[in-house]
Amino acid sequence: MTGVKRIPSGIHGLDQKIDGGFELGSVISVLGGPGSGKSLLGMSFLYEGLKNGETCLLVSFEENVDDLISDMETIGLNDVKDFISKKKLIILFNSPINFEYLGVLDVINQNKISRVVIDSLSAISMYMEDRSKFRKFMLDLVTELKKLKVTAIVTDEQPQVSENDTLYFSGEYLSDAVIKLFYTGLGGDFDRSMQIIKMRRTNNDRSMLPMRIDQGGIYVK
Ligand SMILES: Nc1ncnc2c1ncn2[C@@H]1O[C@H](COP(=O)(O)OP(=O)(O)O)[C@@H](O)[C@H]1O
Ligand SMILES: [Mg+2]
Repeated sequence: MTGVKRIPSGIHGLDQKIDGGFELGSVISVLGGPGSGKSLLGMSFLYEGLKNGETCLLVSFEENVDDLISDMETIGLNDVKDFISKKKLIILFNSPINFEYLGVLDVINQNKISRVVIDSLSAISMYMEDRSKFRKFMLDLVTELKKLKVTAIVTDEQPQVSENDTLYFSGEYLSDAVIKLFYTGLGGDFDRSMQIIKMRRTNNDRSMLPMRIDQGGIYVK
């Protein structure tokens, strides 16, 4: 484990399953169907940084700032408005059409951002003419984020898939880590679950982890 610096994920119970936390400077893909908890996972990750005095960036293509603040409050991520007014939390609500990430890189540099969430890639890919253009976009984006040494979560909405389905997410191989979220709507222990598909340089738990969302945040066990 030498040389790998880790930071707390902000998800209750997760760090102990991934050698202590996300690798500093890694890019993590979070995949899942609608309502599976991708955005809330990203917000919880940023909030953990805010609590530790870090400056964090949320690039949202789907929800406006007021909605994002409400979302965070419903899972106990409080004082978000304070963090925003103190410029510790920066939210960019962008149109996914013709999105250019260069401006985002400037914001990261100018504000010494350490944690970034991009929510979601599917919003961007929807407006790109072809798959190869999107792949190039992903490659450039991941490369730039890693150069800046920020720890980043990029979410991607996927149709509800079962555990054994093969996914054709173009960014999976580029990311250091891939986390899948499942939501069955059946209730019980596996109403929600999380699976860590890969996490480079980490002896991660490989099983389906029961997951829960409530007013205290996101929990896995
Ligand atoms: N306070 C809460 N208690 C329980 N579940 C919640 C709470 N707040 C949000 N949720 C659940 O989280 C879901 C939204 O998660 P979200 O991260 O926005 O999903 P995604 O981004 O994957 O579409 C809601 O559909 C709801 O089921
Ligand atoms: Mg979302």
